[in-house]
Amino acid sequence: MQEKTATTFKTQFATEVYDGLTTYPKHLSSKYFYDERGDRLFQQIMEMPEYYLTNAEFDILSTHKETIVDQFVEGADQINIIELGAGDGKKTKILLEHMAGRKISFKYTPIDISRNALDSLEMSIQNELPDVVVSTRQGTYFEVLKHLSTLNGSRKVILFLGSNIGNLLHPDAVDFLSRLQHVMTDDDLLFVGFDQKKDPQRILDAYNDATGITEAFNKNILHRINNELGGNFNPDHFKHWEVYDPETGTAKSFLVSRKLQTVRIESLDLEVSFNPWETIHTEISQKYDDGIVHWLAGKAGLIVSAIFSNQDKGYKDYIFKKDIK
Ligand code: AVJ
Repeated sequence: MQEKTATTFKTQFATEVYDGLTTYPKHLSSKYFYDERGDRLFQQIMEMPEYYLTNAEFDILSTHKETIVDQFVEGADQINIIELGAGDGKKTKILLEHMAGRKISFKYTPIDISRNALDSLEMSIQNELPDVVVSTRQGTYFEVLKHLSTLNGSRKVILFLGSNIGNLLHPDAVDFLSRLQHVMTDDDLLFVGFDQKKDPQRILDAYNDATGITEAFNKNILHRINNELGGNFNPDHFKHWEVYDPETGTAKSFLVSRKLQTVRIESLDLEVSFNPWETIHTEISQKYDDGIVHWLAGKAGLIVSAIFSNQDKGYKDYIFKKDIK
């Protein structure tokens, strides 16, 4: 059989789906959850009582906005707030509103993989915070990093909220943080949310709600393959399965084949067979503690300059600076 190579396919999505479904064990990347339907499902996840992360970070930003913004502005007269994976910006608006109220001169640059999310965000800022200057940027983190290196002249405050970093395995997180460190000047700040290790049951419940919203979110990747690559997945023939390993702090999502089945993906000219109970790994949501965060920072050439926690210390935001040795 002729091996297909990376150059065979038109999009990154097609290439990654082909590679992930023709290897063992099978896997697909969680970055492909977010089309219009996926964005909506994630909004619903953030509204769920089990998904404590959003409220925890909301509380941190509301409680500590004064001190956080003090650190953002100290010693700088021009600020560019650059947000990676901005989504609906609901939490960020707490900081933006506070800064606008203090008549701080700043620009807001939200970056997201979803054009759809960026357009609604821009509209809502124009309505709710008309004084704030917004310039959106669509792209993957990788594409965006190149653009970041061209933004100089004012202090960059890079926001990476929501424990989005948790989708990266430690080596990838170190790589990503190092790349950010490389586009930072000594004056710039990096503000990152890290969900913390806690009662394993609470973590499991956050990714395994009884209403099935997380299940639908996880299966959205099959819908996308059907819609965009001509697949014939029947999502009902897969089961959403979540595990949390308290030793490593890793929550992992799977889609598990309920039976022996073959799926055809037209535009990849591919038939994929699944054994009964065979898995597709779809997402990791890493949990942290201060020790791991300091270790990641050290590996990436950063130092921790401040830590903000919510009430039960189940979630923390960290400010990092470039380590100038
Ligand atoms: C958006 C990556 C932070 O991992 O907690 C929510 C995505 N997945 N429920 C997370 C998600 C399942 C979320 N992040």
